[in-house]
Amino acid sequence: MRINWSCGRQLVSAQDWIQIRRVRGFHASTRQLTNSSLPRHQEANKENRSNTDEWTNITSTIERLTDRKLLSNPAHPLSILTDIIFSKFPEQEYTRANFPNPRVSVYENFESLNITSDHVSRSKTDTYYLNKDHVLRTHTSAHQVESFRDHPTPGFLIAADVYRRDEIDKTHYPAFHQMEGGRWWSPQGTSSVKELVAKINQDTAKIPVSEIKIIDDTLPFHDGNPKQHGQHQEVCIAITNHLKRTLEMVVGDIFENIALGDPSAPKEPLQIRWIDATFPFTSPSWEMEVYWQGDWLELFGCGVTQQRVFDRAGYPERVGWAFGLGLERLAMVLFGIPDIRLFWSEDPRFVEQFTPGVVSAFKPFSKYPGTYRDFAFWLKEGTIPEEFHDNDLMDIVREAAVDLVESVKLIDKFTHPHTKRNSLCYRVLFQSMERTLQNDEINVLQDSIRDSLKTKFGVELR
Ligand code: DAH
Repeated sequence: MRINWSCGRQLVSAQDWIQIRRVRGFHASTRQLTNSSLPRHQEANKENRSNTDEWTNITSTIERLTDRKLLSNPAHPLSILTDIIFSKFPEQEYTRANFPNPRVSVYENFESLNITSDHVSRSKTDTYYLNKDHVLRTHTSAHQVESFRDHPTPGFLIAADVYRRDEIDKTHYPAFHQMEGGRWWSPQGTSSVKELVAKINQDTAKIPVSEIKIIDDTLPFHDGNPKQHGQHQEVCIAITNHLKRTLEMVVGDIFENIALGDPSAPKEPLQIRWIDATFPFTSPSWEMEVYWQGDWLELFGCGVTQQRVFDRAGYPERVGWAFGLGLERLAMVLFGIPDIRLFWSEDPRFVEQFTPGVVSAFKPFSKYPGTYRDFAFWLKEGTIPEEFHDNDLMDIVREAAVDLVESVKLIDKFTHPHTKRNSLCYRVLFQSMERTLQNDEINVLQDSIRDSLKTKFGVELR
């Protein structure tokens, strides 16, 4: 099962979108932490990141991805997009922060953001744990507290690699990139709520109004998407207006840009819509979607930052907002890149196509033929299919075949009528973006996957 708690990483059809929303992980039921300020050492304790324990589930393939640093190449489409988005935010107001190391503490990734230990996103099937106290960050929000604490400007922007255990297909990859943004205001220097609201509204008035068509049926707040207890409603509304105006301006400008890249694209006004959402670190919260080539595409997750986040940053009096954006999904649309694995390609036909600062349409190069192989097996007696997680197989496949796998799908599942043993069958498509794979080569990969299935999960291959 895919637990999607992201603000945006896959391209989805309208129908998928409905399903994904139903299983989204950040539910209103999330319990709040009772302790508003966890010890600072939990955040700073970076020494024991390399210890392993029974929580360790990071594989060497993923480890290698952490060294790739795609954003350090200015001609990479993800960097081009990052730079374009950065350029929409005034530099004197938003610090560009760099967090090259994706290894963070459980405190930073989860607890500092009110994501409690019973939250589904913390499970070992969803997150890469280095050990019980450290993970590969699953989102750039992991750096919110320190960013709200450390920067000289009232705003910040972060672009970085993030990691989640996930299925493999054209739009999912266990490593991807996000951008995080945040903005705060302090009541210092104001003598009333009215003055604070006026200060925020003045900043909002400076943001250019976008020409795009905006569908916004959301309420400023309501029982299902509440304002924070103790926050004045006019402050909440003023922050929301600044947040929405900012993101509308960014999206309007970016999509104007691609229309330039593709002169045949119809010049219809761009449509976006706002919908209610739930995140443990914002309230109220929203998602922004853009209507693109017949589908609603989820872009931003955002909201009014929970006061507890500001408490932990050491500024309990501040108020503000934050957003998160999945970069691959947007880059796939803007550059017309059809497969998420291409971002990791070292093939010169990909790497040399792009120029810093320019959004250009991806020129496909020949696709090499793929080969299907099925893996059918009996689970250990007494194991039910739900105990074997798709992501367990994904990691085995990825470990053996790295980027030579196009997709993995569960195609059959049944229980033997007499023995009651359960059987699963997965179909794997082996395909290289760079060359034709030989049968012998696939046989070796297949054997290695079969061996790992036996040794790691004690299955009986059929
Ligand atoms: N971190 C969230 C995710 O990966 C996205 C997000 C939502 C970031 C709301 C934010 C925010 O800063 O305010 O799904």
